[in-house]
Amino acid sequence: MTAASAPISAKARVEALRSSIVEHDWHYFVLDAPTIPDAEYDRLMAQLRALEAAHPELLSVDSPTQRVGGKPARGFAECRHETPMLSLANAFSVDEVADFVRRIDAVIGVAEHAFSLEPKLDGLAISLRYENGHFVRGATRGDGAVGEDVTANLRTVRSIPLCLHTATPPRVLEVRGEVVMPRAGFAAYNERARQRGDKTLANPRNGAAGSLRQLDPAITATRPLAFFAYALGSVVGWEVPDRHSATLVKLRELGFPVSAEVDVGCGLTGLLDYFQRIGARRDQLPYDIDGVVYKLDRYDQQRELGFVSRAPRWALAHKFPAQEEITVVSAIDVQVGRTGAITPVARLQPVLVAGVVVTNATLHNEGEVQRKDVRVGDRVIVRRAGDVIPEVVSVVLPHPADAVPWTLPQYCPECGSHIVREAEQAVARCSGGLFCPAQRKEAIHHFAARRAMNIEGLGEETIDDMVSLPFLKRGSETRALRTVADLYGLDLDDLLALKQLQDARAGQITDPKKPVPTRWAEKLLEAIANSKATTLARLLFALGIREVGEATAKTLAAEFGSLDVLAKAEPDTLKKAPDVGPVVAERIVEFFAEPHNVEVIEQLRQAGVQWAEGQGRPTAGPLTGQTVVLTGTLTSLTRDQAGQRLEALGAKVSGSVSKKTHFVVAGADAGSKLDKARALNLPVLDEGALLALLRTHAADQDAADSDHGATDAH
Ligand code: IVH
Repeated sequence: MTAASAPISAKARVEALRSSIVEHDWHYFVLDAPTIPDAEYDRLMAQLRALEAAHPELLSVDSPTQRVGGKPARGFAECRHETPMLSLANAFSVDEVADFVRRIDAVIGVAEHAFSLEPKLDGLAISLRYENGHFVRGATRGDGAVGEDVTANLRTVRSIPLCLHTATPPRVLEVRGEVVMPRAGFAAYNERARQRGDKTLANPRNGAAGSLRQLDPAITATRPLAFFAYALGSVVGWEVPDRHSATLVKLRELGFPVSAEVDVGCGLTGLLDYFQRIGARRDQLPYDIDGVVYKLDRYDQQRELGFVSRAPRWALAHKFPAQEEITVVSAIDVQVGRTGAITPVARLQPVLVAGVVVTNATLHNEGEVQRKDVRVGDRVIVRRAGDVIPEVVSVVLPHPADAVPWTLPQYCPECGSHIVREAEQAVARCSGGLFCPAQRKEAIHHFAARRAMNIEGLGEETIDDMVSLPFLKRGSETRALRTVADLYGLDLDDLLALKQLQDARAGQITDPKKPVPTRWAEKLLEAIANSKATTLARLLFALGIREVGEATAKTLAAEFGSLDVLAKAEPDTLKKAPDVGPVVAERIVEFFAEPHNVEVIEQLRQAGVQWAEGQGRPTAGPLTGQTVVLTGTLTSLTRDQAGQRLEALGAKVSGSVSKKTHFVVAGADAGSKLDKARALNLPVLDEGALLALLRTHAADQDAADSDHGATDAH
């Protein structure tokens, strides 16, 4: 059985797909300029997989579908490097670089010679061997003479070409370079690990090394790794250029990624200038670097200089300050985010990390502190890279004798409300949503939203100022707005005081004789006053109870009819309501269990906020008894509008898909709700079908309503 026996069309199609995928990979990984959307790329891959499955005789190890193949290994075989992998001498000061240049001048004369200038990538050095254009073996550096054969893992790194991009490949070409884990991929990996409660990677270098040492290439394939070429090993049957910078250009042409930062420069000033330039951009680069590398460019000059022990005399690594340092934890505090999320933070004895004094480092969440077992008094490794918040990487053991394991505080440091830990969630939260200063802005913003209390004119900037400027004169104190209940105590004088503070901040002095423009203030007060008469459903949504969105708020209003009944309901009672699961039930119980929240609700009541109770029940109509879920983006109307029209027909619009759902309306880019609907085999309507449904029933309703002439106003 040969490839030729397959139908021509299939063979041609497979080849066309392969070369097109290889081309896209090259644009994506080497040129860093993607040519097609990811979804389209995935489609090409799927087509190729399907064709190869139908025509196994067309399979080839070079196919882009074969990057993850084979079985997990029991260990790695040794791999002797035909040409040893050398290391570099390090320099940490300008003097050492000057010495390096002087030594070179002494050997080849003082004429200004060119250097290849490169970032020193902080990953794992590897060597890739290509025979007749095919990637046959890849190995780690090991001790320089013998490394580990990690071919199967390297095949999963998509920026490593499986075939050289040339019609006339050399007999042998060994390309050396660095496998790195780009910073963004590293951060995303750790974020996911943290959410799952898994071990995180200490830094991108460990991430790269650990990923390449996985025995199962399928695991390596899930890790975000990249490769950059910077040197040659053995070469047979290839015309090596006369200088290194030209080699890098040729390697790029053959399909290898080469760092975009490589350059050429002359003399000491050229080197130091590059060091400065890259140093200034270090934090913005997509991968970690720990310095720059200077290599005498011309190979004949390199040969003249030769080697000392295992490092070339013609190259030097000029190192940046380290991104990791050791210091002592003086305290562990918690910070409260805008949404109440609690983040433990290590207070540190000040330490200089990569040029910046670090005094705080994030510990991410409670689980992370426990996994790393960070204690007050510990010596810890702190890492700062890019614009990422400094973090505690690990503890230098042993702990001091008197250090005790850390535990999450019970109460919010901002407002004293209870801190609650959500089952199966990594983050703990402050439960004082309506009361907590850290959550003030978010709480008020949400409360005032159109679909909540609908207070027009209360925008984000105004809220920002209201919670930060001391404009309220209340008795002997002058303070900022504290809770949503405070909104209902505002009067014209308060708002004018606010305006004066805003003006003063902008450098304007308000002339006390000139009449102050008060229209906006009057309008805002009117909007606040108007919001006092609302419905239970709106109020419930406005309170910002976690997991209680608009649809759930409506369900709760309809089922419980009164805020007091809801506030006292047991979890089991709550769970009987349609689409209230254990999580929602727990959030509701937590919310009303926090006395600070109840206090604010009481203040709202006293301020005259009234909610029509028992108003949430669906109107009777052709869709009465039907529970509908809307998901994705609709084009001819908003999801809100669609929901209102469905409700006007008697349907109950719910926020989550369950067995109790009658049908799902899915617009563009619908996600997990649509998946769930499909899994439950529920009818799914697209936008066209929804419009048809609305049209049909609207006609029925029109006919029924025509007596009293009442149809939907909008
Ligand atoms: S050249 C003969 N170029 O640094 C020179 N190395 O200390 C061989 N490295 O093991 C290496 N970036 O892991 C070279 N642009 C670069 C490099 C680089 C990072 C690493 C590599 C090597 C170590 C040497």
